[in-house]
Amino acid sequence: MASYDIAVIPGDGTGPEVIREGVKVLKAASSKFGIDFKFVEYPYGAEHYLKTGETLPDSAIQEFKEFDAIYLGAVGDPRVKPGILERGLLLKLRFDLDLYVNLRPATLYEGVWTPLKDKTHEHINFVVIRENTEGLYIGAGGFHFKGTKQEVAIQEMVCTRFGTERIIRYAFEYTRKYGREKKLTFVGKTNVLTYAHDLWARVFEEVSKEYPDVKTDYAHVDATCMWMVKNPEWFDVIVTDNMFGDIITDLAAIIQGGLGVAAGANINPNGVSMFEPMGGSAPKYAGKNVINPIAAIEAGRLMLWFLGEEEAAKAIQDAVKKTVKMMKSMNAGQMGYTTQEVGDLVVKHLLES
Ligand code: IPM
Ligand code: MN
Repeated sequence: MASYDIAVIPGDGTGPEVIREGVKVLKAASSKFGIDFKFVEYPYGAEHYLKTGETLPDSAIQEFKEFDAIYLGAVGDPRVKPGILERGLLLKLRFDLDLYVNLRPATLYEGVWTPLKDKTHEHINFVVIRENTEGLYIGAGGFHFKGTKQEVAIQEMVCTRFGTERIIRYAFEYTRKYGREKKLTFVGKTNVLTYAHDLWARVFEEVSKEYPDVKTDYAHVDATCMWMVKNPEWFDVIVTDNMFGDIITDLAAIIQGGLGVAAGANINPNGVSMFEPMGGSAPKYAGKNVINPIAAIEAGRLMLWFLGEEEAAKAIQDAVKKTVKMMKSMNAGQMGYTTQEVGDLVVKHLLES
């Protein structure tokens, strides 16, 4: 029997509530498919930080390396200054575990409301592969003359040949294997980022020669935002840098039904990977049993897929598809069900299948 050790970080706000439903679904999949999970819970997040001053110790990073995957709820709390938990926890996980692929599927399931008029599940079905360890996120830069009228703030964007090539290569491999139309679009800003995205464009072109079966395309990031609204069906797989990936995946999330359904995988193809719902900790809904757990369940589904349990992952996805059809809305408090009831419905559909 396959057995997996999963480190669980429920985190802040609604994180624990949605992770509870995700774990419930994984346990149901475990009984149905004969997969054994061992979940070990970690306390990191705002509460832990406020109590101890610790965000994520290096010892935890070392421990996580012994696991098969990490399952994270949400981090963030209005009592903690912006940047502390983001850099100290979420980005630290991404950087220290070298989770260089941020894979975010944007699939509009049948029956889920999209703000795009005239677009249905037939039109919105693409994947964004975001570089996750470089670019504007590395935290290089600084202030000069801080607090004066002469103040200068510098935030450096760093793209390495190594980092660019490995994400582009991953995207080509992914497109070859899973692409709906085997089409990979590089989204950048080559007309302005004439160094950073010149490197990206050259590497993209070079690597593409090894994948003659994959169709390639290029779109500026600003135009991508228009097309994602006007013609989302044009996209199959997108590869892009860290900052642009952050921005366009929020747009992608809203057209697939919002943060209640959008999930992402933070992947180190040669190590331990982390799976998370894309929405934040939504403090105003915390503890009310009204938040949508589908995104967290989907993150669990991506985890199974990544672990190679493709049959179980597909079964969870089918159960999710049946469940969302019954829900009134993907928004917190408007689902027609409580958080727990949505989890129960997914389990029911999973076990019936
Ligand atoms: C995301 C989030 C994070 C990011 C924040 C919380 C640091 O917006 O996962 O997209 O910018 O990557
Ligand atoms: Mn984001």
